[in-house]
Amino acid sequence: MREGAFDRFAWIYDPIMKLMRRNRSLRKRIESSAGFNAAVSVLDVGGGTGLLIDSLADKVKEITILDPSRKMLSKNKNPKIKKIQGIVQKMPFRDEKFDIILCVDSFHHFTNGSQKRQWQETITNSLKELKRVLKRDGTLIIVEFDPLRLETKAIRFFENKILGLGSFFLKENDLREKLQENGFSSETRMMNRYTYLVKSKKSPSLHE
Ligand SMILES: C[S@@+](CC[C@H](N)C(=O)[O-])C[C@H]1O[C@@H](n2cnc3c(N)ncnc32)[C@H](O)[C@@H]1O
Repeated sequence: MREGAFDRFAWIYDPIMKLMRRNRSLRKRIESSAGFNAAVSVLDVGGGTGLLIDSLADKVKEITILDPSRKMLSKNKNPKIKKIQGIVQKMPFRDEKFDIILCVDSFHHFTNGSQKRQWQETITNSLKELKRVLKRDGTLIIVEFDPLRLETKAIRFFENKILGLGSFFLKENDLREKLQENGFSSETRMMNRYTYLVKSKKSPSLHE
């Protein structure tokens, strides 16, 4: 998938997601895991149209969506949400800027149209950059699909064979292992049969 591939779907994204996904309960579960409050700066990576986080803007200090798709970003009209065009592997933010980072239904898209053999490297580069911009005691929340489940197999077929998005789904324990290799400690909770949420903190450095 090239970086701005979601430009094609921007016009229909929100109506489809309102039909297919239980956005309100997803939002509530993310809120209860992340611990938002009026003092935190939030970054939503691959936040797209902001469908999920729009209502959060009044509850936190500041909120930014980073997404490569200009058209997805342009669908969000909330003046309290900053919209930045860019990719996770190269974010235009200073080190340790954010208290909470969200990647909801976006991590499996972080392949940028690369060949399958480069996916592991692309994912590692994403995690390094997420770690860089997250505060020392910050929280990273990733919501992803379990590739062992039938529902995810259907999503993968649709996204890769029909839409050609090059989506890369990691099993929950493989994602936690990747996170650990890149300096995070994580815990997981299931959101439904095929969706899991991984909450991660930066591991204390061995040299501290
Ligand atoms: C399925 S949408 C999810 C949007 C939103 N998080 C939600 O749950 O409604 C995936 C988003 O990931 C974005 N994306 C794709 N590649 C990316 C990358 N390398 N860095 C950041 N975002 C990316 C896409 O442009 C798209 O808006």
